Amino acid sequence: MKIHYQLWLIFSCLFIVVCLAVYMVVSTTYEQRLQIGYEQISIAQSSPVLNQVKDTYPYSPNRSIGYLRTYSERLNSRLILLDDDKKVYADSFGQLKPNTTLHLTILAQDMVPASLFSETDSFGYVQHTLLPFQSAESEGYLLVIQEADQLYAELKSFQNWMVQTLFIAVIAFFFISYFVSTWFSKPIRQMISQLKKITPQKRTFSLKHRRRDEIKELIDATQNMVEELNLYDERQRRFLSTSSHELKTPLATMQLILENLPYVRENEETYREFVQDLSFQVQKMKQMVDQLLQMNRIWDKPLGKVTLVAGDIQHHLKQSFQHIAEAKQITLEFELDPITIYVDRALFLRGLDNVVSNAIRYSPQGKSVNISIKRERDENKISVCDQGMGISKEDLPHIFEPFYRSNDATAWNQEGSGLGLTIVKQMVEMHKGRIDIETVEKQGTCIHLFFEKT
Ligand SMILES: Nc1ncnc2c1ncn2[C@@H]1O[C@H](COP(=O)(O)OP(=O)(O)O)[C@@H](O)[C@H]1O
Ligand SMILES: [Mg+2]
Repeated sequence: MKIHYQLWLIFSCLFIVVCLAVYMVVSTTYEQRLQIGYEQISIAQSSPVLNQVKDTYPYSPNRSIGYLRTYSERLNSRLILLDDDKKVYADSFGQLKPNTTLHLTILAQDMVPASLFSETDSFGYVQHTLLPFQSAESEGYLLVIQEADQLYAELKSFQNWMVQTLFIAVIAFFFISYFVSTWFSKPIRQMISQLKKITPQKRTFSLKHRRRDEIKELIDATQNMVEELNLYDERQRRFLSTSSHELKTPLATMQLILENLPYVRENEETYREFVQDLSFQVQKMKQMVDQLLQMNRIWDKPLGKVTLVAGDIQHHLKQSFQHIAEAKQITLEFELDPITIYVDRALFLRGLDNVVSNAIRYSPQGKSVNISIKRERDENKISVCDQGMGISKEDLPHIFEPFYRSNDATAWNQEGSGLGLTIVKQMVEMHKGRIDIETVEKQGTCIHLFFEKT
């Protein structure tokens, strides 16, 4: 069911319940008020009767009956005089014998004077009022019985008026609540229609909403999501075009070499150079494809974290880089705290390899590369510092972009795909860590990787 129909239904049901409750409370209160009024009237009307019978009770029953008859006609009611045991003493209708015991609920009443109203089959609504009195000699009661149809006619007419008023209120509320709930849920319908229009080719979402509420939050969040998807899409597209371009360059070089190979077959030295170039390009392409595959795989696999001892990391780095470093007369120096870090081993080492290989690659011969693993405040910090070419201010913001290589780097070393630091960044992000770079051009670079302490 649509949300505004739901709201409408809920509001309407609640309103009907409230109306019913109001009806019950008001009509009961009104009935009680009427009864109190009738009771007061009855008491006031009966006081002259009481004054008269006080003098005759309990000695002259005949005179008492005379008074009762007179007033009974005047007041249009039946008057019964009761003794202090609430037994009949005299009846204005003359039907009840003296000393008769009456079975009436009103007689059980302790608080007098009091009135009781009841509906009877033969006389309709009847009001019983019991009034105490005190004569010189004795105590007694006067029971006044009169019809109360007028009271209930008044009540009925009031109830009818209320039912009509509430009915009109309910109808009015039906319309009002329909419009309010339709107005209230309008932004949701607008959102749905906008979202339905989104296609992979056309991803736009904009909606104006003035109220500062959850719907506004939802609209903002959706807008952000669409923008981020667009950004992601754009990045993905750029990545694809850059990767194909980057892969095409070595392929074009290879094709050129292959085309020219038959013409240099006579010259052995040139021929060997050509074959070497070819092998270099193949190598470069292989490395690039490997790294591209790695990059894509990183997101697919969930992290399998294990505890790595600092010594383990040192051992791995020595095994991987000692020979390469020695070939360039670069010394690898280690500074280790006896700590452990909790990471996905393969992913972490692949990232670290890229940082260390950069440090060696972009350092001149004879320098040293310093690798330290330390605990700093609440974090584990792995730093790789070199005394190499450094990174310029212009290059610094871009070095994590895929395929980005500074001009200096390309001039310094032909190898490299520009994917290494992208992989490092991905790895660190996956571990919810962070990267810090300190660098001075022509003096050296320190790359610090921070991971949460475990
Ligand atoms: N230790 C370093 N010293 C100087 N420049 C560096 C260093 N590490 C990275 N860079 C710069 O960042 C760029 C991107 O690095 P990377 O993604 O590893 O690609 P690659 O090493 O294949 O060029 C490099 O081309 C280089 O300009
Ligand atoms: Mg690199």
